[in-house]
Amino acid sequence: MIGLRTSLPAAIVSFLAVSSGAEAYRWFNWQFDVTCEATGFYVPSNESELVNFVQYHYPRKTMLKPVGNGHGFGNLTTCVSEEDTERESYILSLTNLKHLDIHDNNTVTFGGGWDLVDLMPTLEKNGLQVANLGSEKVQNYIGAATTGTHGTGKQHQNLATQILGLRVLDAKGEIHEITKESTPDLLQAYSIAIGALGIIVEVTIQAEPLAYLKRTTKVVEGSSNITELYQQIADFGNKYEQVNIVGPTLNYDQDKHELVVNPNMTLVYWEETDYQGARNCSLDFCSNDCGRCDRDYVCYDYKMEAIATTPSGICYRGFMGQFEHFFPIESLAEAGADYMTYAQAQSDRMKPYIDDEIVGPGLKGHYLSDDVTVITRFVKGDDNWLSPVNKYNLQPNASGIFATLEYSWIPTYNNFTTQYFFQELASEYIPKFGETYNVRPHWNKMIFHNETYSSTIYPKMNDWVDLQKKMDPNCQFINEFLAESLGIDRCQYLFD
Ligand SMILES: Cc1cc2nc3c(=O)[nH]c(=O)nc-3n(C[C@H](O)[C@H](O)[C@H](O)COP(=O)(O)OP(=O)(O)OC[C@H]3O[C@@H](n4cnc5c(N)ncnc54)[C@H](O)[C@@H]3O)c2cc1C
Ligand SMILES: *[C@@H]1O[C@H](CO)[C@@H](O)[C@H](O)[C@H]1NC(C)=O
Ligand SMILES: *[C@@H]1O[C@H](CO)[C@@H](O)[C@H](O)[C@H]1NC(C)=O
Ligand SMILES: *[C@@H]1O[C@H](CO)[C@@H](O)[C@H](O)[C@H]1NC(C)=O
Ligand SMILES: *[C@@H]1O[C@H](CO)[C@@H](O)[C@H](O)[C@H]1NC(C)=O
Ligand SMILES: *[C@@H]1O[C@H](CO)[C@@H](O)[C@H](O)[C@H]1NC(C)=O
Ligand SMILES: *[C@@H]1O[C@H](CO)[C@@H](O)[C@H](O)[C@H]1NC(C)=O
Ligand SMILES: *[C@@H]1O[C@H](CO)[C@@H](O)[C@H](O)[C@H]1NC(C)=O
Ligand SMILES: *[C@@H]1O[C@H](CO)[C@@H](O)[C@H](O)[C@H]1NC(C)=O
Ligand SMILES: *[C@@H]1O[C@H](CO)[C@@H](O)[C@H](O)[C@H]1NC(C)=O
Repeated sequence: MIGLRTSLPAAIVSFLAVSSGAEAYRWFNWQFDVTCEATGFYVPSNESELVNFVQYHYPRKTMLKPVGNGHGFGNLTTCVSEEDTERESYILSLTNLKHLDIHDNNTVTFGGGWDLVDLMPTLEKNGLQVANLGSEKVQNYIGAATTGTHGTGKQHQNLATQILGLRVLDAKGEIHEITKESTPDLLQAYSIAIGALGIIVEVTIQAEPLAYLKRTTKVVEGSSNITELYQQIADFGNKYEQVNIVGPTLNYDQDKHELVVNPNMTLVYWEETDYQGARNCSLDFCSNDCGRCDRDYVCYDYKMEAIATTPSGICYRGFMGQFEHFFPIESLAEAGADYMTYAQAQSDRMKPYIDDEIVGPGLKGHYLSDDVTVITRFVKGDDNWLSPVNKYNLQPNASGIFATLEYSWIPTYNNFTTQYFFQELASEYIPKFGETYNVRPHWNKMIFHNETYSSTIYPKMNDWVDLQKKMDPNCQFINEFLAESLGIDRCQYLFD
């Protein structure tokens, strides 16, 4: 190896050094319950170094997993462990690809290294923002957009719809420029690529001028009759353009020995405003356990601050079971009631796992553990092939607006027995309700469905899988989850 070092260009030496170093790299997701062990972790200093690395590994069929910040709940981002196949396996981080160019027409081109927590303030300094974000700024931009991450709002779409162009490196090390202008169909395929269509090294998005929002947080009392409760929730969805409905919750009642519904909810809703006299939305935010949900208040801020928390990720640091399911808004009252009734009916199974202690402390010590928390949000549909809110299989009379139900089961920290039980619970909803309500699960939350189901909710799945083969003939970007849930049969042998 020493001899090689003097005779090869620096870029090649640096990846050979990584390849030959025996340091295995263990990857964990954000909550440390999903893990894998790669041969190594590769962090190229620039695109050409990455291209060399990929070209070197193509004939070797090395497994390659580009990652953002691991803020998922399932196995989408899990690498293929070195010990599981004959191949080497690398985790790739693009954190050094940090160039950023703002164009006159409010479009912005930037490298795959940008995380939302740095990107949003940078855009803001230039008088810009994006149309929508999820409830936090913890993700990498590509990591978030490529899985269909969304916020809330009947006229608000997910992050992937902000994309106007992508620069993607395939498994052979060739660059593909995909743009809305020249290849609009392909952009619909690549905008939600879930890590399997290559390494996205650069993205161009449509940004917009800064705007202010007023955010209102309001506690409301719901009906203890689940049917009526979900009719109320559907009505809130009709009434507010942009609302996040936190609750109801289920709590284990130690006297009754069952889960009881607490129908009280916190509505968090946003309205456009011209008022710029305060910027106080980051002080507190009833979202992801980072702030208080138990009182009424208003705040004003730039949109990015008003809709997403900075930067602390999640404030509760225990394991959590969570899925998020999207379905046409027309079914909200019915589907919501069915989901809740089913969750509550699992009381007896929950019993052995109940720990009465307060889990926390969350921010300012206000966070109490609810055993199950439901959050309802809204997303406008789109035409991206693998979008969870794709409109390809809707009834002709559907509005094209989707509701989402996010279920979180919250156990004691670090108890795998309980976490696996929650995974099992989470896996039961698609077989039970999926076909009835045309349910599509979030790609990066707990997700378990099979190829047959995927092809009904993603009518363009087979075209996407064909594209996947072109970009990745040797299955280097595939893991077990992708092979199974999308039916990528040619790669299946790797995991048998
Ligand atoms: C606390 C918390 C709050 C959340 N809030 C929301 C929310 O409000 N709304 C919502 O919709 N979701 C939410 N999520 C889910 C989250 O937005 C998604 O899981 C998102 O994908 C995580 O981004 P990441 O950068 O951590 O991606 P990772 O999990 O690291 O990666 C996601 C996928 O992107 C691929 N990828 C990453 N970078 C590249 C690249 N450069 N090229 C090709 N592929 C790449 C990976 O291979 C993987 O398949 C939340 C998750 C958590 C844990
Ligand atoms: C990429 O990084 C390598 C290693 O730091 C350096 O040798 C090379 O000149 C860089 N290439 C470009 C195009 O910047
Ligand atoms: C992820 O994969 C591992 C290993 O196959 C499995 O044990 C675990 O249950 C999976 N987790 C989820 C949330 O699907
Ligand atoms: C925006 O400007 C850039 C740089 O001038 C240009 O390449 C691009 O085509 C423009 N995009 C749109 C949507 O007008
Ligand atoms: C709940 O409300 C619905 C609709 O008002 C009603 O038909 C049903 O009987 C109620 N259920 C119970 C248990 O009261
Ligand atoms: C719901 O809110 C009302 C009004 O604030 C309160 O009186 C009631 O106790 C709450 N119910 C539960 C179950 O917490
Ligand atoms: C934010 O500022 C506004 C206007 O001054 C005020 O009415 C509101 O109570 C403040 N909110 C918080 C959370 O401090
Ligand atoms: C995990 O939870 C299970 C079920 O509640 C319990 O039996 C077990 O003792 C817990 N394990 C640890 C290490 O706390
Ligand atoms: C759409 O049509 C279906 C089938 O004809 C019908 O059952 C449903 O109620 C209609 N939905 C709306 C929102 O009109
Ligand atoms: C695939 O999933 C669907 C929906 O959950 C289920 O009905 C079907 O039986 C599953 N098929 C196979 C082959 O597992």
